Amino acid sequence: MGDQQQFEKIISHAKEYGFVFPSSDIYGGLAAVYDYGQNGVELRNNLRRFWYLSMTRLHQNIVGLDSAIFMHPKVWKASGHVDGFNDPMIDNKDSKKRYRADVLIEEHQEKLRQKIQKEVVKAAKRFGDSFDEQQYRDTNPRVKGYQDRIDHMDQVLKDGLETGELHKIKELIEAEEIACPISGSKNWTEVRQFNLMYSTQMNATDGQDANLYLRPETAQGIFVNYLNVQKTGRMKLPFGIAQTGKAFRNEIVARQFIMRMKEFEQMEMQFFCKPGTEKEWYEHWKAWRMKWHETLGTQSEKLRYHDHVKLAHYANAAVDIEYDFPFGFKEVEGIHSRTDFDLKQHEEFSGKKLRYFDAESNESYVPYVVETSIGLDRLFLMTLSEAYTEENVNGDNRTVLKLHPAIAPIQCAILPLVKKDGLPELAEKIYQDLRFDFNVFIEDKDSIGKRYRRMDALGTPFCVTVDHDSLTNGDVTLRYRDSMEQERISIEKLAEIIRNQTSMNNLLKSL
Ligand code: GAP
Repeated sequence: MGDQQQFEKIISHAKEYGFVFPSSDIYGGLAAVYDYGQNGVELRNNLRRFWYLSMTRLHQNIVGLDSAIFMHPKVWKASGHVDGFNDPMIDNKDSKKRYRADVLIEEHQEKLRQKIQKEVVKAAKRFGDSFDEQQYRDTNPRVKGYQDRIDHMDQVLKDGLETGELHKIKELIEAEEIACPISGSKNWTEVRQFNLMYSTQMNATDGQDANLYLRPETAQGIFVNYLNVQKTGRMKLPFGIAQTGKAFRNEIVARQFIMRMKEFEQMEMQFFCKPGTEKEWYEHWKAWRMKWHETLGTQSEKLRYHDHVKLAHYANAAVDIEYDFPFGFKEVEGIHSRTDFDLKQHEEFSGKKLRYFDAESNESYVPYVVETSIGLDRLFLMTLSEAYTEENVNGDNRTVLKLHPAIAPIQCAILPLVKKDGLPELAEKIYQDLRFDFNVFIEDKDSIGKRYRRMDALGTPFCVTVDHDSLTNGDVTLRYRDSMEQERISIEKLAEIIRNQTSMNNLLKSL
């Protein structure tokens, strides 16, 4: 069940503590575009680094790539994005707001599901131990009525999108009396398809200007480099190519903070394999990616698989990994078995053979591809949602980000107890020694209690307090973020203790 209030708190926390700002904030922001602040960029870089290292260094047969955002316009014709990367949109004539027609319908279905759930809970109470939920769902006329409407909506939506008969979707919205959430009116325009790609112009000196697109996914950069990497890297099947980078989509409906952005970052890996082995690799990556999320500390009960029932025409299997955000379970990552669709399309449109010569079977074929695709910004939101904790400590409230220490923006804060008596100087010396290995922060303003709370709110796993005894004994107080326990540690041992807990290598080893 969603919790809007919790979500609002996470959004304001992200702004207040320098994680995420609206883009062009002083001009009032830009819808669905965000900037990462001083702490956000550290957390985001750490997440990206963990993904990249775990995909490449932990797999001998996966290599990296950094392809350009601009690509030849034919790429997007071949990939199907020019003709098929659309969202069905509908406008409310009174509020002048534009909506995704499929989302309006899905939200309406969700309301009906909630009604069903209420009926089921009521009936379970009434019937007690003898309650048979399935039988109730199958036979209760009101519940069955709701369910039939939900199924009918699925069918009309699917047919309307597949056949292009978008008037059927509008008729469905009218028949279900779906109202605009802003104006409350049911005064709708026709449903129209909008392409999600941004286009721009490349001026050429020969006058042959070209219309370019900003890439809507990073995957195509991998497909068009398949042969370059395979040949120059002397790669044998199966092998993978991984890359991270910006992608752009003209998402009309900007919602849910950094969940759906117009400019975002993807982390994608295409795994090229022999035709016929793709299902096996699909199962492998499905399980491995779930383990990856759990290794980062996400509770397994807040993660689930969601199999695609309706497969894209090029896929023979597809699943989402969903996380239970404060607004409910939503997709974070997709694992898709894309067959040989993309490489074959690029063969056709480029006129170049994109084959693999299999020395074992002495045959040439177009490899099949299993893709893992995750949005870095969604992963960031999931990580924040998972880490954000409010606690009551002896009658006092604290907000703490319980991030895995290896991805925390700041690994260690050095806090001189007072701004005099040589304590700032000793703190500075410790800072100078640790800064090569860790992201260290030094702070001498405010009371020590306030400084601890601020570091908790940033997710800093270690605070080191330098006091008068430190000058004579060579030791400091080390405070642990989650337990808030404190212990006296020799300054010489600090680096080793912090390294043990914050090392990304250890995190990689536990995968
Ligand atoms: N190459 C396959 C592909 O792009 P996708 O399901 O469209 O598949 C993959 O996108 C992932 O990219 C999603 O699971 C999500 O994490 C992220 N993503 C997609 N659109 C996004 C958007 N508008 N804002 C933020 N993240 C997005």
